[in-house]
Amino acid sequence: MAFAPVFLVSFFLTKLVVSAQPFPCFFIFGDSLVDSGNNNDLNTSAKVDYPPYGVDFPYGATGRFTNGLTSADFLAQMLGFNDFIPPFAEVQDAVLSNGVNYASGGAGILSETGEHLGSRISLDQQLRNHEIVLSRFAALYGNVSSAKQRLNKCFYYMVVGSNDYINNYYKSKYYTTRRLYTPQQYATFLANKFSRQLKQLYNLGARKIGVAGLGPLGCTPAMVSKGTNGSPCVDSINDAVGLLNTELGVLVKQLSHDLPNSNFIYISAMDLRPTELFGHGIRLLNEACCRVERNTGLCVRGGTPCAIRDISFFYDNFHPTEMVNKVIATASYLDILKLMT
Ligand SMILES: *[C@@H]1O[C@H](CO)[C@@H](O)[C@H](O)[C@H]1NC(C)=O
Ligand SMILES: *[C@@H]1O[C@H](CO)[C@@H](O)[C@H](O)[C@H]1NC(C)=O
Repeated sequence: MAFAPVFLVSFFLTKLVVSAQPFPCFFIFGDSLVDSGNNNDLNTSAKVDYPPYGVDFPYGATGRFTNGLTSADFLAQMLGFNDFIPPFAEVQDAVLSNGVNYASGGAGILSETGEHLGSRISLDQQLRNHEIVLSRFAALYGNVSSAKQRLNKCFYYMVVGSNDYINNYYKSKYYTTRRLYTPQQYATFLANKFSRQLKQLYNLGARKIGVAGLGPLGCTPAMVSKGTNGSPCVDSINDAVGLLNTELGVLVKQLSHDLPNSNFIYISAMDLRPTELFGHGIRLLNEACCRVERNTGLCVRGGTPCAIRDISFFYDNFHPTEMVNKVIATASYLDILKLMT
């Protein structure tokens, strides 16, 4: 019964979108929250092409950092696509016209972010990959201007920034950012860089862009296990991340104003506190559903996941379960509706 509100909303949304596909294509940029296999062939400890990842996914372990679908997968369904959006690492010309998923575990706004984990596809590189896709679109649609006309109509989902904290700012052993910047300075620095990247995306034909805010990284089991001074989460980390979210909210308004015919929105759904999901039946808030590798916080290879995954917020030490991704996607969809006009 506790799940009823979520399913009710999903039901209405499904009914709503069958009549018309609001966007002809869907592009995904970001990190492990939405990666669907781009890291599988990279030399990195940030890859999960093994069970128990994908235990609830129709095709098993595909490189998704959760037990089932990501929020991008749920959004693809809600937006009326018949298939999941393919990862860039696997795209073929035939399916490319529905969009591409460029996201990469460990990646950030800053190119250096995640370097200590191994290879990853930074947001700058993801944009270069999108340029390659644009040239393939040009071949498909005759020329660059007709390709861009089509790309104008697509939906672009940006889920990035968490690693700039987890795998940069709060990893002082490997990175200098925390010594160089206060949390506010760092948030401004990230927002300025991200602003240039979003303008580049606009120049490649993007007009309808959703920017997801960062989740409460101070509530992840990895951070909580380091001590919270009696709070449920590490408040200083959530405060730092909140500064970037505030900047992102300002940024989307600014870009929508400055760039003709653009519509940038801030998607607040990721910023749910685990306790806010209590009403959806999520009970296990601060512990991983699988046994995790001490160094990486990822599930150990071949481990057995917890039996009732729908009551856990986190699957491993960093990533939410499919159930949480569904709640996030459902709430995000309500924001994304604003881009359809
Ligand atoms: C993968 O990365 C590790 C650590 O950076 C390195 O030692 C190793 O040589 C790399 N392997 C390959 C095949 O490049
Ligand atoms: C691009 O292709 C479209 C449709 O085929 C055509 O109408 C248009 O003139 C072409 N534009 C350029 C710049 O070649």
